[in-house]
Amino acid sequence: MKGIILAGGSGTRLSPSTDSINKHLLPVYDKPMIYYPLSVLMLGGIKEILIISTPEDTPRFEKLLGDGSELGITLKYREQVQPRGIPEALTISEEFIGKDKVTLILADNIFYGQGFTTLLRNAIKNHTYATIFGYRVKDPRRFGVVEFDHRQKVISLEEKPDNPQSDFAVTGLYIYDHRAVQIAKKLKPSDRGELEITDLNKEYLKWNHLDVELLGRGFAWMDAGTQESLFETAEFVKTTQQRQGFKIACLEEIAFYLGYNTREELYEKGKSMEKNDYGQYLMEIADRKHTDQYWDAIDHHPMMGLVKNE
Ligand code: DAU
Repeated sequence: MKGIILAGGSGTRLSPSTDSINKHLLPVYDKPMIYYPLSVLMLGGIKEILIISTPEDTPRFEKLLGDGSELGITLKYREQVQPRGIPEALTISEEFIGKDKVTLILADNIFYGQGFTTLLRNAIKNHTYATIFGYRVKDPRRFGVVEFDHRQKVISLEEKPDNPQSDFAVTGLYIYDHRAVQIAKKLKPSDRGELEITDLNKEYLKWNHLDVELLGRGFAWMDAGTQESLFETAEFVKTTQQRQGFKIACLEEIAFYLGYNTREELYEKGKSMEKNDYGQYLMEIADRKHTDQYWDAIDHHPMMGLVKNE
């Protein structure tokens, strides 16, 4: 399974904050936005990841995240010259995907909730053709909307409909087989002049090859693409972290729990930024006392894929 993070776009909705920097490099409370989607792919067990951004911003992502080796993963980078639509992420990645399956995530999407790792890993394991993730929202007209029957079989999909057929938004997380590339190549731009991911999903639906996984009310899903939602997301992260003392989307911590880096490497990384809260947190996680408490706490909720890293 390959992973793609789409982090391009024009960011006009967040102007002037995004006039000189890519939206996905803006902080969501205490870390850059891209950390959140990257943490999702890592928790899904995906180790080969392609990050796609604009020609100006791609080098900035590379400066921030490097080749991924510090996190025990492989990161590659490609450019999207113009924001022609989300499905272009798949055509740009044709060579990278090859005959593999692929999980695509939009870089402004933030997922959080107990059991998410298990849900994602199961979706990846049981995946056949195409899987989307639905989440109930108050205003579905802002999103792609999925309608399904009582057996969770998809009935219809619509992009930003005036009269939504359900309250379930399609989140920016998609799992496809390699055919998605060929389907993406054949899509035509919509009335707003973009290739639409909903049109790609509709092709899978036509063949009855589209599954939907629902994220329950215990999950938080946020699309940090507007001033309002970016601020709300940052508030959510701050409140949750301060209450629990665990950071959301701390990449080095995830790499440690996945067994990709050692306790010593984690400590050294923390030490290199010990003057700030993020560095101090890494040093704290590297402390055996702290991690032992953590493992005790999650004993009754084993998270698939996470290893007790000695
Ligand atoms: O967030 C989920 C929603 O994302 C889905 O419900 C919709 O079906 C889907 O179309 C998409 O809607 P948005 O209106 O949020 O799409 P937006 O144009 O804001 O782009 C989403 C992200 O993808 C954003 O972080 C920028 C990036 N992007 C977008 C386009 C069109 C690119 O990197 N390149 C692009 O060409």
